[in-house]
Amino acid sequence: MTHLLLTLAPYLGILTAFTAALAVWNRLHPVSFWLAVGFPYKALAVYLTWTNVSAGCGLARKRRRWRLTLDGVPVLGPALITTTHVIPPTRKLRRVTVDTPPRLGLIRPLATGFRVAVRLDDGQTPDHYAAKLVNLSHAWRVHSVRVLDWKPGRLRLQATVRDPLTRITTPVKDDGLLRVQVGQLETAAPWVIDFTTIPHWLITGATQSGKSTLLNALITGLAAQPVALIGFDLKGGVELTPYAARLTELATERGHCVAVLNKLIAEIKLRMALCRAHHVRDIWKLPDNARPMPVVLLVDEVAELFLMADKSEKEEISATAVQLIRLAQLGRAFGLYLLVCGQRVGSDLGPGVTALRAQLSGRICHRVNDPETANMTLGDMDPAALQAARLIPADMPGVAIFAASDGRWYRARSAYIPEAQAEAAATANAHLRATWDQVTTVSVEPVTDAEFEQFEPDVS
Ligand SMILES: Nc1ncnc2c1ncn2[C@@H]1O[C@H](COP(=O)(O)OP(=O)(O)OP(=O)(O)O)[C@@H](O)[C@H]1O
Ligand SMILES: [Mg+2]
Repeated sequence: MTHLLLTLAPYLGILTAFTAALAVWNRLHPVSFWLAVGFPYKALAVYLTWTNVSAGCGLARKRRRWRLTLDGVPVLGPALITTTHVIPPTRKLRRVTVDTPPRLGLIRPLATGFRVAVRLDDGQTPDHYAAKLVNLSHAWRVHSVRVLDWKPGRLRLQATVRDPLTRITTPVKDDGLLRVQVGQLETAAPWVIDFTTIPHWLITGATQSGKSTLLNALITGLAAQPVALIGFDLKGGVELTPYAARLTELATERGHCVAVLNKLIAEIKLRMALCRAHHVRDIWKLPDNARPMPVVLLVDEVAELFLMADKSEKEEISATAVQLIRLAQLGRAFGLYLLVCGQRVGSDLGPGVTALRAQLSGRICHRVNDPETANMTLGDMDPAALQAARLIPADMPGVAIFAASDGRWYRARSAYIPEAQAEAAATANAHLRATWDQVTTVSVEPVTDAEFEQFEPDVS
């Protein structure tokens, strides 16, 4: 026994050193490890198991084929499994039902997983695959599988081996006017919030799910841009006060918010008149030197704006809702953008909230405690998006489901920007803080109230 151990010792040592080297390589450079070691193994496993996996997921087709059998013991497995009638002992070659998998294309490696094309069988649609993505991810032992895109008769699946959102390394940066890179998508692409394509955003999530951290990232990116920032923080200003140096106005009480909204409505009337004088329908078609500054209104905890302590506040609340809705309707044309955060944005806060929510077409849903909030945020999207929102773990704050401008949804995570870092960015850019005089540079007669009410924004 001792002799055997002594003989094996060098081999065991080499094996241990080799395994340790692989583990270190994987830790230090997971991407190259995956491409060189993990991917070839995974690709082989996917090809070799595809017949069973597609059959198990109900994606294979049953076909009649000639198979050689040995007295009931099939040479090719499926013959026995799918045959119910008694097999005459003398017959060796029989027609049996077998599973034929859909044709799998070449598996291509990606930094975070792999991509593969599948030919749809007659009668199959991408929805058949969309319904089986969780099954596929378990069968392939990967973190997730998504339908990447499809063409008639063909679709592409993308598998992500490990959750790429465990650690975010993408920096937060300014990505052009009114565009901020705030984190990373599950596809490893940067997560960009772009107000020019989607002007208004709704960010929901349970407490401690990462809403304010995302707001920090946005403020960090927007602070260096020539835009006016206005904050509504009805949690007594705890969330937005650190950035006051860069904010044109910070309102922490409802009365103050109403006054700011009135100012913004007055500004929209001026911008409307300016556009009319230049015969254009929005400020982006104005000559550069005549274009007023874009304004981004950040609202943290929208529910506070709509909560009623007593009946006397009812009028103020409904006036606020009406103004916000009108601002949202006209925002894109006249350079006013809304970003609204809230734990719950449901009809229990009043009828105005539902109408406002409908105007906020950009949706970001963090971890939620109740399916209803996910529904309120992502309700009109793919049911898989709702399911993904419910599966966000509590130990991954900042992970969210993000509805992109391409009409798809993505799992994403914001880069962690602590308050101190966002505050430093706001303070460093305090010289870019626009005063109300700089926001309201338009020197024309404003449109009348009636003209304001009747203006129909261009929805194209
Ligand atoms: N992207 C992220 N990466 C890592 N940690 C994060 C991220 N986002 C948030 N966190 C952690 O979660 C904590 C809570 O985040 P945050 O304050 O943004 O939550 P919230 O949704 O605004 O909560 P509340 O509704 O109570 O205001 C942060 O202090 C931080 O530690
Ligand atoms: Mg918060």
